[in-house]
Amino acid sequence: MALLPILCYPDPKLHIVASPVQTVDGHIRALVSDMLETMYEAKGIGLAASQVDVHKRLIVIDVSEERNAPLVLINPDLSWTSPGKHLNEEGCLSVPGIYDSVERFDAVKVTAMDAGGVWRTVDADGVLAVCIQHEMDHLMGKVFVEYLSPLKRNRIKTKMRKLQREDRD
Ligand code: NI
Repeated sequence: MALLPILCYPDPKLHIVASPVQTVDGHIRALVSDMLETMYEAKGIGLAASQVDVHKRLIVIDVSEERNAPLVLINPDLSWTSPGKHLNEEGCLSVPGIYDSVERFDAVKVTAMDAGGVWRTVDADGVLAVCIQHEMDHLMGKVFVEYLSPLKRNRIKTKMRKLQREDRD
């Protein structure tokens, strides 16, 4: 197991579109285990492979209070979305310290393989539904701040670049 470095917005690598996982093999299972460790360490509720610079369609999520219910979604596909949408406050491990409202479907059905390579369908609402939509956006190269106004987004970019400069110094 290893902690993986998380890419920080506005790193252009966050905009790479991920490709499907071909085979769920030992290499993918090792990646899943490293991503879970990285997500728990960072106290996040979700992490997409894109955020650790691996551009494959793979997501890990845990929205449980106890942090003991990992959900692994490989090659996820939304098979249904609810008619209703709501604004929800979101944050992202790639945009630390920034929280803002994004409109998401209230509920979704997602079909994906688990870490054993078995296809499953997950019915999600509430935080889990929001998290799945947020992480699936990462796989398309989209970070949640791109839903915000250009003014807000530019402020966030400036703030993130400043933080990253301070980190290096
Ligand atoms: Ni994120």
